[in-house]
Amino acid sequence: NWTMERFMEEQIANIRRTVGEKGQVLAAVSGGVDSTVAAKLMKEAIGDRFWAVLVNNGVMRLNECEQVKKDLSEALGINLTVIDGSKEFLEGLKGVEDPEKKRKFIGGKFIDFFEAEAIKIEEAAAKDPTKAGKIEFFMQGTLYPDVIESLSFKGPSATIKTHHNVGGLPARMTNGQGLKLIEPLRSLYKDEVRALGRALGIREELVMRHPFPGPGIAVRILGEVTEEKVNIARQADHIFISEIRKAGLYDQISQAYAAVDPSRAVGVMGDKRVYGYIIILRAVTTTDYMTAEAFNFPWEVLQRIMNRIVNEVHGVSRVVYDITSKPPGTIEME
Ligand code: XMP
Repeated sequence: NWTMERFMEEQIANIRRTVGEKGQVLAAVSGGVDSTVAAKLMKEAIGDRFWAVLVNNGVMRLNECEQVKKDLSEALGINLTVIDGSKEFLEGLKGVEDPEKKRKFIGGKFIDFFEAEAIKIEEAAAKDPTKAGKIEFFMQGTLYPDVIESLSFKGPSATIKTHHNVGGLPARMTNGQGLKLIEPLRSLYKDEVRALGRALGIREELVMRHPFPGPGIAVRILGEVTEEKVNIARQADHIFISEIRKAGLYDQISQAYAAVDPSRAVGVMGDKRVYGYIIILRAVTTTDYMTAEAFNFPWEVLQRIMNRIVNEVHGVSRVVYDITSKPPGTIEME
């Protein structure tokens, strides 16, 4: 795509001009499309003077942290630091049932981890004579719709839920540390970001990834988050997404996941009655994430998914499919 290639070259030149010969840039990445594309663009522009940080918050999907490491660090050559905060996050989530409290806790803890790492990186960056410049910039993968939304931040999602991915960070980072904000995707819509990702050589599966919320599967476990429920949600979600891919439906769906309902339903295993969790499958199609419809699955696909989940995920006795539209439902469970 000629236009996108040109945009890419222009952005790379822009970044170089802004950052200068020695300047260094810090960012939080999630493995999602936006932060990955933005990070690759930074890497192309300034190499290892760009520092990406991934915080494992303990509520990422199955093997996700390892996969992001492979993609960003190995395949894309991005200077990535991974911090494992999973123990502390899960510890802090004990006893927390309120969705907003979960979000606030995860968001706050995320900032603590990120800031601690930022200080270490700053020190390392300052010592390295090949790089030498101070970290002066903070990069964010903000898209055009995010810019619009924050200009008129009165939308229903703003008042119903606090959405923070890496949101909330720049305010503290930019005020507290005097970092200047770089947002190379600010003028782009999602499909343009995907096209840019392709132009940058990012693999198709990553470019087409569904969005994933910052608070991760914590908002896909109703009520208290425990390690047991996180494991169940991960396994069920992994089966669900794998079967969606196998059926060739992934790109027709905007977002899909398996949630855990902690009420127990009765089931029969062998000749015994057992009580197990209820898995709620959710898959939606949407263009703007403000309204959405449940995806119309072929029945056999749902049956195959149900069979695999009840047979392979220990502790689950039922699988249900959520057909609620948004509104009145939301895309996430909490
Ligand atoms: P809802 O559930 O409000 O979700 O219909 C709309 C879109 O926003 C995502 N979402 C979040 N993203 N932090 C995030 O980074 C959050 O706390 C959060 N809550 C919802 C959701 O996955 C969907 O894409």
